[in-house]
Formats: sequence, structure tokens, C-alpha cells
Amino acid sequence: MARRHLDTAISLACLALTFFLSPGAAFAETVPQPIAFSHKNHVTVYKMNCRFCHSSANKSQYANLPSVEKCMMCHRSIATDRPEVKKIAQYWNGKKPIPWNKVIDVPNHVYFPHNKMVNAGIPCLTCHPGMDQAGTAVQNLEFGMGMCMECHREKKVTIDCWKCHY
Ligand code: HEC
Ligand code: HEC
Ligand code: HEC
Ligand code: HEC
Ligand code: HEC
Repeated sequence: MARRHLDTAISLACLALTFFLSPGAAFAETVPQPIAFSHKNHVTVYKMNCRFCHSSANKSQYANLPSVEKCMMCHRSIATDRPEVKKIAQYWNGKKPIPWNKVIDVPNHVYFPHNKMVNAGIPCLTCHPGMDQAGTAVQNLEFGMGMCMECHREKKVTIDCWKCHY
């Protein structure tokens, strides 16, 4: 009897712990990638700005991924002996883009003008929480219609159906 109570207590504690350890609710997705790139190292340790690599985030409807050339700006000379960095040189020498797998996507019927929201001053980490601590990209926040509407209402931005839907 006592043992059973203890088991229950332990599993409830574990459940609570899992809940606390997963920011942005129980939604986190990791996607396999061709190179073990670390956002945490480049952003938090080496102090690189998000927009240095994602340079169209404030300029176009779509944010972009950096080209192999951008990586080579540094990795022509930095850490060239590491296996994961050698892979970059292989793509560069073969004139091939790095085949990163897509992590974040909203459905095709949704219009999301990335530049407008960045230029309104909303920080990257509001919508991409945890990216400064991540390895390859993770999606910690689900882009459901509810989260769009919540912020639009709060900031008195349009909530007309046709503004977000094609
Ligand atoms: C502005 C310079 C700079 C750019 C641009 C850059 N990196 Fe780095 N990267 C570094 C530095 C500095 C390190 C740390 C090297 C060390 O640990 O001695 C590093 C480390 C790495 C490592 C880890 C090596 C290891 O196994 O420890 C990988 C992988 C890597 N970078 C991939 C990339 C990729 C992919 C790109 C392009 C998307 C990129 N980097 C762009 C500066 C840069
Ligand atoms: C208001 C929320 C919001 C803000 C602020 C925001 N993003 Fe995004 N971001 C999104 C959404 C939603 C998508 C998915 C868009 C799509 O699938 O069309 C996305 C996609 C991306 C992508 C993927 C692009 C691709 O083609 O795969 C990158 C990279 C990105 N954002 C970087 C950034 C950076 C860097 C900043 C800050 C300068 C930023 N985002 C600010 C919501 C945001
Ligand atoms: C040194 C270059 C570099 C910097 C700096 C950088 N990123 Fe990235 N980012 C990448 C690369 C390479 C990928 C593709 C691999 C992956 O998914 O991690 C990526 C992927 C992403 C994605 C997912 C794109 C998709 O597939 O949907 C988002 C979102 C993103 N970055 C946001 C950010 C944010 C926010 C910052 C700043 C906190 C940032 N990045 C800083 C290089 C960088
Ligand atoms: C954290 C706040 C925030 C979130 C989350 C957010 N937005 Fe926005 N959005 C804004 C702001 C602020 C503007 C106004 C920019 C301006 O005035 O140019 C805007 C503008 C827009 C516009 C342009 C509206 C127009 O009148 O031209 C569209 C479309 C849009 N957002 C779609 C979305 C979608 C789709 C999502 C969810 C995937 C989303 N937004 C999530 C803050 C947000
Ligand atoms: C601020 C942006 C925004 C506005 C305004 C908006 N939507 Fe959406 N809507 C979205 C996003 C983002 C999704 C995708 C949600 C997902 O993938 O779960 C969506 C999904 C939908 C879906 C599909 C649900 C599904 O299961 O895929 C319908 C239907 C829909 N919206 C109807 C509407 C109607 C009707 C209005 C006007 C009252 C409206 N939307 C206004 C952003 C918006």
C-alpha cells in the first residue's frame, strides 16, 4: 500500500518536472540535420547577431538560411580540422548548398510577412524562443492561429481573415 502511494507520488513529481523543463508547453521538435551546427555557440558564445546569418528576416516575406559562402567566411580558417567543419568545405568545394531540413513552417493558406513583424520591433526570440540556446534549430512554439490573434489583438494589428489567409 505505502509502496503504491510512493510510486504515484514519484510519477506525479516526474510529470511536474517534465512540464517545468519544457518551455512553451509540451511542444518541441528537433529535426535531423547534415551538420551539427550550434546556434548557442555562434549566437551566445561568439556573439553573432541572428540577422548576420538570416539577413532577409527584416527585408522580405521569407527569412533565409545562410549560404555556404557565409559559413566559409570564417571556416576557411577557423576550426578546419574538425569533422563537422570539414563537411562545410566539402559542400563548398563541390559547389553544393548544404541540404538543411526545414524546421518551421506555417500552412500554405497562411500569409506571414516576416519582414513586417521584425520591423515592428518584435524580437526574434519572442517567436523563436530558445534559439539562442539551441544546437540546430528547434521549434518550441506552435504557430497556431490563436497565437497570431493574441498578439495582433494586444498590439491592435489587423485580425481580418483575409489579411492572413490567401
Ligand atoms: C563569424 C565567424 C563564423 C561564421 C560566419 C560561422 N562560424 Fe562556425 N564557428 C565559429 C567559431 C569562432 C567557432 C569555434 C571554433 C573553436 O571552437 O575553436 C565555430 C564553430 C563551428 C562548429 C563546431 C566545430 C566543432 O565541432 O567543435 C561548426 C560545426 C560550425 N562552426 C559550423 C558553422 C556553419 C555551418 C556556419 C554557416 C552557417 C558557420 N559555422 C558560420 C565562427 C563562425
Ligand atoms: C512574429 C513572430 C516572428 C518573429 C518576430 C520572427 N519570426 Fe522568424 N518565423 C516566424 C514564422 C511564423 C515562420 C514560418 C514562416 C513560414 O513558414 O512562412 C518563421 C520562419 C523563420 C525562419 C525560416 C525561414 C525558412 O525559409 O526556412 C528563419 C530562419 C527565421 N524565421 C528567423 C528569424 C529571425 C532571425 C528573426 C529576428 C530577426 C525572426 N525570425 C523573427 C515567426 C517570427
Ligand atoms: C552563424 C549563422 C547563424 C546565426 C548567427 C543564427 N542562425 Fe539560425 N540557422 C542557421 C543555420 C545554418 C540554420 C539551418 C540549420 C538548422 O536548422 O539549425 C538555421 C536555422 C534557423 C531556424 C529554422 C529554419 C527552418 O528550417 O525553419 C530558425 C527559426 C533560426 N535559425 C533562427 C535564428 C535566430 C532567432 C537566431 C538568433 C538568436 C539565429 N537563428 C542565429 C544559422 C544561423
Ligand atoms: C508577438 C506579436 C505578433 C505575433 C505573434 C504575430 N504577429 Fe503579425 N504582426 C504583428 C505586428 C506588430 C504587425 C504590424 C506590423 C506593421 O504595422 O507593419 C503584424 C503584421 C502582420 C501582417 C500584416 C498586416 C497588414 O495589415 O498588412 C500579417 C499578414 C501578419 N502580421 C500575420 C501574422 C501571422 C500569420 C501570425 C502567426 C503565425 C502573426 N502575424 C503573429 C505582431 C505579431
Ligand atoms: C493574424 C493571422 C490570422 C488571422 C487574422 C486569421 N487567421 Fe486563420 N489561421 C492562421 C494560422 C497561422 C493558421 C494555421 C494554424 C495551424 O497550422 O494550426 C490558421 C488556420 C485557419 C484555418 C484552418 C484550420 C485548420 O485546422 O488548419 C481556418 C479555417 C481559418 N484559419 C479561418 C480563419 C477565419 C475565418 C479568420 C477570420 C475570422 C481567420 N482565420 C483569421 C492565422 C490567422
